[in-house]
Amino acid sequence: MVATTSGSREGWSSRTAFILAAVGSAVGLGNMWRFPAEAGENGGGAFVLFYIFCVLLIGLPVLLSEVLVGRHGQASAPESVRRVAADSGASKGWGIIGSMGVFAAFLILSFYCVVGGWVLYYIGVFAGDLFQTGLTGGAFEGRAASDIEGLLPGLFGNGGLMVGLNLGFLALTFFFVARGISSGIEWVAVYLMPLFFVLFLAITIYGAFTGNFGEAVSYLFTFDFSKLTGEVMLAAVGQAFFSLSLGVAGMMTYGAYASRETNLGKTSGIIASADTGVALLAGLAIFPIVFAAGLSASAGPGLMFASLPVAFQQMPFGSLIGLLFFIMIFFAALTSSVSLMEAPTAYTLEKFKLPRPVATAIVGVGAAVLGVLSALSFNEMADFRPLAFIPIFAEANFFDALDGVTAKLFMPIGAILTCIFVGWIADARLIDDENGLDGALHQIWRALVRFVCPIVLAVILAFGLFG
Ligand code: PHE
Repeated sequence: MVATTSGSREGWSSRTAFILAAVGSAVGLGNMWRFPAEAGENGGGAFVLFYIFCVLLIGLPVLLSEVLVGRHGQASAPESVRRVAADSGASKGWGIIGSMGVFAAFLILSFYCVVGGWVLYYIGVFAGDLFQTGLTGGAFEGRAASDIEGLLPGLFGNGGLMVGLNLGFLALTFFFVARGISSGIEWVAVYLMPLFFVLFLAITIYGAFTGNFGEAVSYLFTFDFSKLTGEVMLAAVGQAFFSLSLGVAGMMTYGAYASRETNLGKTSGIIASADTGVALLAGLAIFPIVFAAGLSASAGPGLMFASLPVAFQQMPFGSLIGLLFFIMIFFAALTSSVSLMEAPTAYTLEKFKLPRPVATAIVGVGAAVLGVLSALSFNEMADFRPLAFIPIFAEANFFDALDGVTAKLFMPIGAILTCIFVGWIADARLIDDENGLDGALHQIWRALVRFVCPIVLAVILAFGLFG
């Protein structure tokens, strides 16, 4: 339990639990599905190297800033920011950073659960196939590759199933968030994250031995400078934030459940390394399989769902590996969606003094309504262009518009404001006291948060939007 001035609140039961929950939030569909798709669509190596640059120079300092504000505030994200502001003699208006973040987390939750639904679908597909064709041999014996690639468009075409799966995944997320920190969110992280890592390592090693590893390495790490446009840079920053769960109050909310003894500097380093390691390894696990099957890297969001299953067809133990692969993705996705739901839930229950299950249900109903619109935007509402008036989002359907606006606007803007707040507005003594860094590291972090992050982010944002 973490005691606060406002009485006793629930908190992580240990530092390990905090790390597992935060890594669980960070590692998710962003690493396994969004990262390879974004890398493939944005030119491979140039994107990847710039992404790593963003994680180190921007993501990591912002991550520490966010958990630090949360831990000092010991409340929902908007209230935590307000408390830090009050303790620094600054305006409580800065709480807007937390409010924007909570809203963005809610938007992401709504479409994240749509993709979570696809994961459930593929678990069903591979389980059915394993049952029919048995353990040995590839997956989907005797079926044409086009048939298997057609599974995803087939799913997209079935609005009822899309909505049902989306709501199913949302309901699972609701179940754990409604149970609270220790018996819900922490439980999921402590049991599912270790299982995730075991499966992940096994599948990466399997991919390295059976797939076209060399081609994947050169694809991901060959740096072609000419491909680094403003839009690619904005995509890379957006991906770094999405993957580290930044700019949307998620890490602030989790930081608020951390105890005073936790060294936040060290912990942030662990979270960022684990997340980036998984993203890079995921690329190295997914691209070899895709290349070995002669498929294209730039398949976009369909890469993991449409291309990989075709690749599993030709691989030994294909149905079993496919099933384990999607179960692993499911674990990663659930530990992230609970964090997305917790940010708005913590705010709702605090603001309206509601019991946790009621607050969670309110957030869930809202996410379900938006989620249905996202789920239907692949077919029934495919021509709806909600942001047609913004050039870079002109072609986006409802789902893509939410994804684009959150990763390319809310996250970078939230991060810029967080840096200004932590670097310039908040009392330096309070910040120094919380961050757990000493000596040179402290100086470097301070300089990054005050100067490098906000300036670089503002430039990339302007360049990506208008360049
Ligand atoms: N980081 C998560 C992922 O990679 C997604 C996420 C974003 C979770 C923002 C929480 C907040 O899948």
